[in-house]
Amino acid sequence: MSYKGYSDFRSDTVTRPTEEMRKAMYEAEVGDDVLGDDPTVKELEELAAETLGKEAALFVPSGTMGNTIAVKLAAGEGKEIILEEHSHIYNYEAGNVSRIAGSLPRPLPSDHGIIPIEKIEENIHKSLRDHIPETKAIALENTHNYWGGVPIPTDYIKEVSKVAKKHNLHFHLDGARVFNAATALGVDVKEITKHFDSVMFCLSKGLAAPVGSILVGGKEFISEARIIRKYLGGGMRQAGVIAAAGIVSIKVMTKRLDEDHKRAKRLAEGISDIKELQVDLERVKTNFVMIHLKTMSSFEFLEKLKEKKVLALPFNDKLVRFVTHNDIDDNDVSIAIDAIHSVFRI
Ligand SMILES: Cc1ncc(COP(=O)(O)O)c(C=O)c1O
Repeated sequence: MSYKGYSDFRSDTVTRPTEEMRKAMYEAEVGDDVLGDDPTVKELEELAAETLGKEAALFVPSGTMGNTIAVKLAAGEGKEIILEEHSHIYNYEAGNVSRIAGSLPRPLPSDHGIIPIEKIEENIHKSLRDHIPETKAIALENTHNYWGGVPIPTDYIKEVSKVAKKHNLHFHLDGARVFNAATALGVDVKEITKHFDSVMFCLSKGLAAPVGSILVGGKEFISEARIIRKYLGGGMRQAGVIAAAGIVSIKVMTKRLDEDHKRAKRLAEGISDIKELQVDLERVKTNFVMIHLKTMSSFEFLEKLKEKKVLALPFNDKLVRFVTHNDIDDNDVSIAIDAIHSVFRI
């Protein structure tokens, strides 16, 4: 479903609200949510908590704010949080892990988002007098953005949760795309979220809402989170107008993600014979397709594609990311396959 003539594969954040969402937004009953008066925000928060199997939920303006609040509560000032070295929290959230949460990130290398368990254990520090910041939390990302949207297996998550419990650490999930992970793994999302103390997920990515993310966790954790959201300026007034779209995201859009995954696979397969690029079909498990260019820079490639009305994002000089989502249909995939082929045809 190209928009203004472009097939836009840059991200699932480009999705526009569906008709059902716009109708729900129009009809939403609203109140001042900072005063606790907005029934639609309450409904969204209750639905999110129930869907992810947690006691409570908080509607926040962005995934970045949700993660920042979680890190602030889970680790906090002068304490360490263990993260994967290419995680979104560490790399792409404007340094909030230290700038706002005041925590010391301990980034660890991984195999496609999977940090060896022994590496995690080795890096857990007990406070040693006044020298060493104590480790207070571990965070994982699922699906993992940098590693091409790969889902992190539940068996591994379970092992990390055992380590977190053993050392009394808070276990947080940056689950911006956790419903993509659940869909790809063929499990109910609770099978993933049950291992974590807190989870952030985004309504405004593959779930197509215009704004918003959710932080879920225990009652006490979420009531503390509400205070932090307020002082970060994230308290919203008649937010039911946007929460209404989020309800549609959870009830409807979580059920259709397999379509995006199939289209991503079709795109990857459709270009896998081009010798000037490389795409790892085994790793195309959700809605991301990562393309390694052998002969051309990402910028040159993307310029040529743009002329053919196809958009994608550069990850680095040789790596380009395509993302399928609700505003990409079978025709867009065909257009992209043809456009990519034609870039390399002499
Ligand atoms: C894995 C991951 N976490 C968190 C975020 C942050 O979400 P937002 O853009 O709503 O702040 C993103 C956004 O792309 C993401 O991909």
